[in-house]
Amino acid sequence: MRFQALLALSCSVGVALASPPHSLAPDVGNWTVGDCILAQFAMEFTVPFPNSSKFFDSHDKAPNSTTFKLDLPVNAVVDKSQRQCGNNTQVLSFDWSSPALNDSAVNLYRNLTVVFAAMNQNDSAVPGYGVRQMYGTFEMARFSQMDPKTNVTMNISSYLDVDTGLLASEHFMFKVPVGRSYLCSDIGQISMYTHLHYDFPDEPKQGQTLMNTTVSALHVQVDAFRTKESPAQGFQIPMDCDYEPNDVVPIVVGAALAILVVVVLVAYLLGRRRSRQRGYQSV
Ligand SMILES: *[C@@H]1O[C@H](CO)[C@@H](O)[C@H](O)[C@H]1NC(C)=O
Ligand SMILES: *[C@@H]1O[C@H](CO)[C@@H](O)[C@H](O)[C@H]1NC(C)=O
Ligand SMILES: *[C@@H]1O[C@H](CO)[C@@H](O)[C@H](O)[C@H]1NC(C)=O
Ligand SMILES: *[C@@H]1O[C@H](CO)[C@@H](O)[C@H](O)[C@H]1NC(C)=O
Ligand SMILES: *[C@@H]1O[C@H](CO)[C@@H](O)[C@H](O)[C@H]1NC(C)=O
Ligand SMILES: *[C@@H]1O[C@H](CO)[C@@H](O)[C@H](O)[C@H]1NC(C)=O
Ligand SMILES: *[C@@H]1O[C@H](CO)[C@@H](O)[C@H](O)[C@H]1NC(C)=O
Ligand SMILES: *[C@@H]1O[C@H](CO)[C@@H](O)[C@H](O)[C@H]1NC(C)=O
Ligand SMILES: *[C@@H]1O[C@H](CO)[C@@H](O)[C@H](O)[C@H]1NC(C)=O
Ligand SMILES: *[C@@H]1O[C@H](CO)[C@@H](O)[C@H](O)[C@H]1NC(C)=O
Repeated sequence: MRFQALLALSCSVGVALASPPHSLAPDVGNWTVGDCILAQFAMEFTVPFPNSSKFFDSHDKAPNSTTFKLDLPVNAVVDKSQRQCGNNTQVLSFDWSSPALNDSAVNLYRNLTVVFAAMNQNDSAVPGYGVRQMYGTFEMARFSQMDPKTNVTMNISSYLDVDTGLLASEHFMFKVPVGRSYLCSDIGQISMYTHLHYDFPDEPKQGQTLMNTTVSALHVQVDAFRTKESPAQGFQIPMDCDYEPNDVVPIVVGAALAILVVVVLVAYLLGRRRSRQRGYQSV
């Protein structure tokens, strides 16, 4: 009985650690910017529904669902120009459109910007770089509305603005030394501030701050601040995110093991005392 309980506990700990929090179709895109950035990944956004889902193109909204998933398509177009390749910041900027779910004649316009920056020298032992900010705007629905002032029909859109905010150098995402690329099979989740805005002619300018959007990305390899020494084709030597010290998992595993040890010890001591009380010889 006790052994089964222990087994169940350790199994549930194992499952909680092993099961991935999301599933993502591995549609991996490849992008380049000037001769300074190479990037390859599959990315998905899980955005929260606003309290009124009329602002979203989601005709097949699952009942009780509170989120909406949106992928970065592999055919997203990047600004490939060399002017995105600064000495201290480099920008990977995507544009794409997705047909509305309820009307394929309507293409919803979306964009995403990823800003790479050199790290403050005080925050890393060797010159390093990472992602300082990620932000974007997603058109979520388009309405045809009559402007009561002019009786002219116009298109009004609702937009989601997502933004990590400007991160301090020590909190950059995807941190690696200059001259290396960042490699990660699963980045986990990035959280982004989310704001819905729309601009109907007969109502004052409106917006709502929503719950955070979460971003997941799989099969990630990014390489910024490339130099003439970088291989012409392909990435600089990768540094795998799994080698980065990750505080959370060791703590969770350590805590689970500590609890197990205590439980086993207590069970053993109790068992021993009980068997002694019954007069059995302890083994
Ligand atoms: C991106 O590159 C990878 C590896 O080179 C390749 O497997 C994949 O098919 C490419 N994806 C696209 C959309 O070109
Ligand atoms: C939705 O939320 C906004 C702000 O959070 C509020 O002003 C608005 O009245 C809400 N609308 C509905 C239909 O609940
Ligand atoms: C949706 O939520 C309502 C109320 O919380 C519940 O009664 C209903 O069973 C839920 N529907 C589904 C499909 O989960
Ligand atoms: C960027 O660095 C190069 C080489 O070090 C230098 O020639 C150039 O002037 C720098 N550009 C700016 C805008 O600082
Ligand atoms: C509104 O959108 C529709 C469909 O996308 C388009 O055909 C039409 O020209 C647009 N009207 C205006 C005034 O932009
Ligand atoms: C993204 O789209 C929004 C809305 O159309 C636009 O205002 C913004 O300038 C675009 N950003 C970039 C970087 O293209
Ligand atoms: C780095 O640290 C030194 C000493 O603490 C400080 O004087 C300097 O301003 C810092 N540099 C930056 C860029 O923060
Ligand atoms: C699609 O959804 C938008 C937003 O909810 C709505 O304005 C539009 O009329 C819908 N189009 C069709 C063809 O149902
Ligand atoms: C708009 O249409 C309404 C009803 O058809 C009419 O009463 C009004 O005068 C029109 N306004 C303009 C500016 O044409
Ligand atoms: C929302 O995202 C921002 C930016 O990443 C983060 O600082 C903040 O803690 C997040 N808020 C919640 C409730 O997760």
